[in-house]
Amino acid sequence: MEPFRIKAVEPIPFPTSEERRTMLSNAGYNLFRVPARMITIDLLTDSGTSAMSAEQWAALFRGDESYAGARSFERFESVVEELTGFPEVIPAHQGRVAERILLTSALSPGDVSVSNTHFDTTRASVEAAGAIAVDLPVEQNASKPFGGDIDLVALNEHLHESGVGRVRCVVLTITNNAGGGQPVSPANVAAVRELCDRHGVMLLLDASRFAENAYLVTQRDQSYANSAPRDVARATFAMADGCWASLKKDGIGNIGGMIAVRDADLARACRNRLIETEGFPTYGGLAGRDLDALAQGLREVTDPDYLRYRAESARWFGDQLAAAGLPVVEPTGCHAVYIDARLLLPHISALAFPATALANELYLAGAIRGCDLGTLVFGRVDPSGGPDVAAPRELVRLTLPRRVYTKSHLEYVAEVAARVASKAAEVPGYRIVEQAGTLRHFTAVLAPL
Ligand code: F0G
Repeated sequence: MEPFRIKAVEPIPFPTSEERRTMLSNAGYNLFRVPARMITIDLLTDSGTSAMSAEQWAALFRGDESYAGARSFERFESVVEELTGFPEVIPAHQGRVAERILLTSALSPGDVSVSNTHFDTTRASVEAAGAIAVDLPVEQNASKPFGGDIDLVALNEHLHESGVGRVRCVVLTITNNAGGGQPVSPANVAAVRELCDRHGVMLLLDASRFAENAYLVTQRDQSYANSAPRDVARATFAMADGCWASLKKDGIGNIGGMIAVRDADLARACRNRLIETEGFPTYGGLAGRDLDALAQGLREVTDPDYLRYRAESARWFGDQLAAAGLPVVEPTGCHAVYIDARLLLPHISALAFPATALANELYLAGAIRGCDLGTLVFGRVDPSGGPDVAAPRELVRLTLPRRVYTKSHLEYVAEVAARVASKAAEVPGYRIVEQAGTLRHFTAVLAPL
């Protein structure tokens, strides 16, 4: 059960079936364009959507809004240092800025960054530095406990190849969000560390979901069964040279990010960039009160009771959806349940957007907003006018905000999903009416076929 009770509540809307139909049509059949006041259960993302604790709200009041050297920064710095062991701590207003600042400071044009999977904003930052992003994930399947690992054989080959460019860093995204929220094993991190040492390459962590990764390690690797998640997280950070994180996830904040590194010169370069874009290095684009709320969130997030609830509710939710007839990607991680829309909707070709079709159907059936991770997001338009290239998978991510929805909310989602699954053959595909050149999924206008 939820290891908390509820102190403040927020009403949720129940749009009628007619309103949902009209809304979705007005939104060009794109859930990003549907206003939140028309959503009953919002599972678009776990980013910035979490509920703060009473202690976090109390911490907001302690916020010190001094421009330079605020006490809030000192409190934030000491929590991050204690957790990561990195002496250089730099706040930023969210994850993508942190990675942009760190990666453009660490990489030069022609360098290569190798990863288990660069999240899309991470890839954009590698490319903004003129460098090349290479993803080498292990193949994932239901029997693999650590489907987030990087492929060590392929990494080794890359480190030896000289043709592509000099590998400057390895980025491990923990957990691997783009790869189904699967964890990275300590053994994998240790092996990467060894390869990095041998080749003089930096090991960086995208630690946005570090606590969830640590908890899954205690569940999936017998030798960590009696370890505290915070100790597992500390040991993981200890193997790296630095990290960044979106603190909108495991910082349990509505906004925030950070960089933490060992190397003072790299930190100096990051701070110089930070001053140009975010603000003074002791606030990094955040209010002092945000830093205090994040410091408290970073303490709470490794609580074993909280993490057990988080992982168990995701697993239970996945089981309910599977029982309702939805093809769920297994094993379930912590932050989301992923559904394979291609398996559910085999009559819709990839270029008619099966993931979009499933996400839209969940909205029409019950005002549920999931996140489309299919061809609309990862497909490529051929600039020479040839046919579009489909994404490798058609997934819908039902993402769980932290401490926001109860079991009965998720039961409702499973009931609605069962109704959608029972009428899967009637779900239409879509075509694009209007789209932008990049990141089209945020604004595209579609129409049912
Ligand atoms: N890294 C990972 C692994 C992420 O999942 C995200 C964001 C970022 C970096 C960027 O952080 O949003 O604070 O700028 N993921 C969100 C999601 C958007 O829905 O998965 P940000």
